[in-house]
Amino acid sequence: MQGAIYAEGLVKTFGDVRALDGVDLDVPEGTVLGLLGPNGAGKTTAVRCLTTLLTPDSGRAVVAGIDVVKNPNEVRRSIGLSGQFAAVDEYLTGRENLQMVGQLYQMRAKEAKARAAELLERFNLADAADRPSKTYSGGMRRRLDLAAALVVSPPVMFMDEPTTGLDPVNRQQLWEVIQELVAGGTTLLLTTQYLEEADHLAHDICVVDHGRVIARGTSDQLKAQTGGERVEVVVHEPEHIGAAREILAGFGKGETTVAEHTRKLTVPVTGGAKLLAEVIRDLDAQGIEIDDIALRRPTLDDVFISLTGHLAEASEQDEQETR
Ligand SMILES: Nc1ncnc2c1ncn2[C@@H]1O[C@H](COP(=O)(O)OP(=O)(O)OP(=O)(O)O)[C@@H](O)[C@H]1O
Ligand SMILES: [Mg+2]
Repeated sequence: MQGAIYAEGLVKTFGDVRALDGVDLDVPEGTVLGLLGPNGAGKTTAVRCLTTLLTPDSGRAVVAGIDVVKNPNEVRRSIGLSGQFAAVDEYLTGRENLQMVGQLYQMRAKEAKARAAELLERFNLADAADRPSKTYSGGMRRRLDLAAALVVSPPVMFMDEPTTGLDPVNRQQLWEVIQELVAGGTTLLLTTQYLEEADHLAHDICVVDHGRVIARGTSDQLKAQTGGERVEVVVHEPEHIGAAREILAGFGKGETTVAEHTRKLTVPVTGGAKLLAEVIRDLDAQGIEIDDIALRRPTLDDVFISLTGHLAEASEQDEQETR
């Protein structure tokens, strides 16, 4: 069965730029899809096509069961959108902005007022509620924009970089709001530059680059594709790097890389915690003092970097560091 957000072969060009070059998506109802990709990958363009703000050149998209190109007005009634750049009316106060959205959606005045008050509280804007939003900081505007997207609880939500510019506390609170929404049955597509965010919130992840989906799967599936675990050791004395390297080479399943300036050695391994204990024992036996040692699984950041091709640059740098 087709999901609550479905796209097939979406293409959108701007002059010579193929911002979307045949994108397929399928987001099951009540789940979160994280759309990841470097700057210019096509994330915002995808969101804009799916939310009827742009018409795709070709391909098909169905949101909440409605064809995006054939029935854009109907789609708009079934979705909420928080864009990459906050879209609030600067001259209205935070409260007025939210009440206005409620009224646009034909809420009764009393209901719109109550909903606005609740959201202002929720997004830590109660104190600033009656100030014109042009006096808000960047993070406050962002929160107001997100609150506006949540005035009505549509079955399908799109959030383009919802937490960019938010401090850690506000980001955490937004994550909680998102989790509640999804627990209540909302389907969400979000884009983010914070891979930890995708790891935390998204059931499935699509990595896009140059307008194409270059990988998809759960966070764990993507990490497994990127490769296994590594031991990272930071030695205390620069003179010990050579000796530590020899010891690690004995445990490694691949080449040891060394970053001289941080005194960090990294080697791919298999064997987990038991092996880590052996490495520590051998380093200690040689009198090599360490500042830090860790067994590291690939993070989503590693996945992203290796998929989007920035790895080549990074490994060149590592080689120079080794010399
Ligand atoms: N209205 C437009 N006119 C011309 N080119 C555009 C337009 N909108 C997007 N593009 C181009 O399409 C490509 C994809 O842009 P898009 O904004 O979708 O990327 P993004 O993945 O959202 O990037 P970011 O992470 O920086 O937000 C880029 O090369 C961009 O320059
Ligand atoms: Mg964007």
